[in-house]
Amino acid sequence: MQIFGVDIGGSGIKGAPVDLDRGELSDPRHKVLTPHPATPDDVADCVREVVDHFGWSGPVGVTFPGVVNGGTIRTAANVDKTWVDVDARALLGERLGGVPVTVLNDADAAGVAEMQFGAGRGREGTVIMLTLGTGIGSAVFTEGRLVPNTELGHLELHGHEAEKRASTKVRDDEQLTWEHWAHRVQKYLTHVEMLFSPELFIIGGGVSRKAQKFLPLIEGIRAEVVPAELLNNAGIVGAAMTASRASEARAT
Ligand code: BGC
Repeated sequence: MQIFGVDIGGSGIKGAPVDLDRGELSDPRHKVLTPHPATPDDVADCVREVVDHFGWSGPVGVTFPGVVNGGTIRTAANVDKTWVDVDARALLGERLGGVPVTVLNDADAAGVAEMQFGAGRGREGTVIMLTLGTGIGSAVFTEGRLVPNTELGHLELHGHEAEKRASTKVRDDEQLTWEHWAHRVQKYLTHVEMLFSPELFIIGGGVSRKAQKFLPLIEGIRAEVVPAELLNNAGIVGAAMTASRASEARAT
């Protein structure tokens, strides 16, 4: 079975039909650049362009980099603030010609995909996926079930928001060495571990491709710390999986 997944990010809006049995894209993804400012209306047009590229008409799952409650956006830390309180499910549904749309947080989507097809496969207990990128996203699972919208990137760490200290954007902006940045990530993981005592941390985001450069530098964490396996496509796959589950729920 196939469902379409779209990942809305700060630099690109990417999507593809997803083969839900294998957790892989059925076709190479299509990407359009995120407009600036990334207003709801302009982003909705981009989502339509991505979906139309494949001639897709059917359920679509969409990720958003903020809190999403029942399809409505509640926060927009690193995106245009006009998104707050927008019913994204209704907006995108209308823009895509009335197909069912499911919207969820980007890190939650990536986590859903990793739990089924990646580093979290078969893992029980508490598993926490952290996506290190422009911000820090989090997805918390207990016995395989997601607790949505946990927003652990905004925890306070030494008087700062964690994502303002340990995201990959901060590493680039402050030109931190891998050692220096890994030390900050270690402090962050220690704090999250103190709160949740997970069995496993999955580190996602683009930097997970370079896991060998920083994960070996992280010490003193009791939980296992592993890189994400699905890399760039986790958000798209997780969005499609969530849209598929929503379709099944509607059908029963
Ligand atoms: C947002 C989260 C998002 C994360 C990664 C944070 O700033 O608050 O909702 O998951 O960035 O994009």
